[in-house]
Amino acid sequence: MRSEIRPIYWRRGVVYILDQRLLPHKLRYLRLKTARSVAKAIKDMAIRGAPAIGVAGAMGLALTAYHSRAKTRERFLSELKRSYELLKNTRPTAVNLFWALERVMSVIIIKSDASIEELKKLILEEALRIAEEDVEANKKIGENGARLINDGDRILTHCNAGALATAGYGTALGVIRSAFAQGKRVTVYACETRPRLQGAKLTVWELMRDGIPVKLITDNMAAFMMQRGLIDKVIVGADRILAKTGHVINKIGTFSHAIAAKYHNIPFLVAAPFSTIDFKSTLEEVIIEERDEREVLYIDGKRIAPRRAKALNPAFDITPPELVSYIITEKGIYRPTELKELGSEQ
Ligand code: MRU
Repeated sequence: MRSEIRPIYWRRGVVYILDQRLLPHKLRYLRLKTARSVAKAIKDMAIRGAPAIGVAGAMGLALTAYHSRAKTRERFLSELKRSYELLKNTRPTAVNLFWALERVMSVIIIKSDASIEELKKLILEEALRIAEEDVEANKKIGENGARLINDGDRILTHCNAGALATAGYGTALGVIRSAFAQGKRVTVYACETRPRLQGAKLTVWELMRDGIPVKLITDNMAAFMMQRGLIDKVIVGADRILAKTGHVINKIGTFSHAIAAKYHNIPFLVAAPFSTIDFKSTLEEVIIEERDEREVLYIDGKRIAPRRAKALNPAFDITPPELVSYIITEKGIYRPTELKELGSEQ
């Protein structure tokens, strides 16, 4: 197996982000020194995937703290607050971003008597811990989820819920990696995931790199493959899971795969860390990101629709709990409706 993919890391006051817009053809890191540039990288999708943008948000705040020249606590806090607002307003759907930003900001509240120098250190430590814990959680998700995968399984996945979408190892692809490492022979069918093609560009690249058998299919082939008996499991990640109701919010197209899987009696699995579970929001409160119509009208800079054509571009959809067989987390495997009982553990 090749060296592990590192989509984001911190080194001496610089955040390195693997520019996912250039994959699979170019492997290039952005070197970022400000929260503003990290916010831009998130907004422009140089880094994407729910846990990964959470880690990026935390590191964005750590950059502000690290490079601050503030002499007073008030000034330091106002710089951080400004960066927090910038980072928070990048993408609205994945809950991990808000979770990670709150977690870093809470350091300031907990350590109310710490000096600026102490706070700088504590904030950086917290951001790095969020990244480390994410990789650990993913490995645990992999271990837990691999129990549901049988030797010979043909697995359909959507978008990219791999190492690239996290701090490392991946959630849905983490389960597949884990099963493969245990010697289970798996074949992955990666849906290309229009409009941005995360499946074609990222998932296929990641799995090929690890020598895991993978074939690319277009999104509209999934139901037919199931009907032909060619799919044993569907496994996807999530951007937000609502604990109150068990709804799963993930990349647009997930819902259609879940309906098709239910129709064909195929297990539909969602792999996600606890940082993706939203214990507070109701369905009405979730904002589904609407992205630029040009992502649909063009492919890789080439216009495919007629001039002046209009398009819609919701980036995520909502899968109701009755279509989800299991949610695989680092703490165990749950039915979607069981999550509400875990709220008190938080
Ligand atoms: O728009 P993206 O590429 O950020 O969307 C990513 C997804 O929908 C992933 O499936 C999700 O974040 C889970 S990643 C572990």
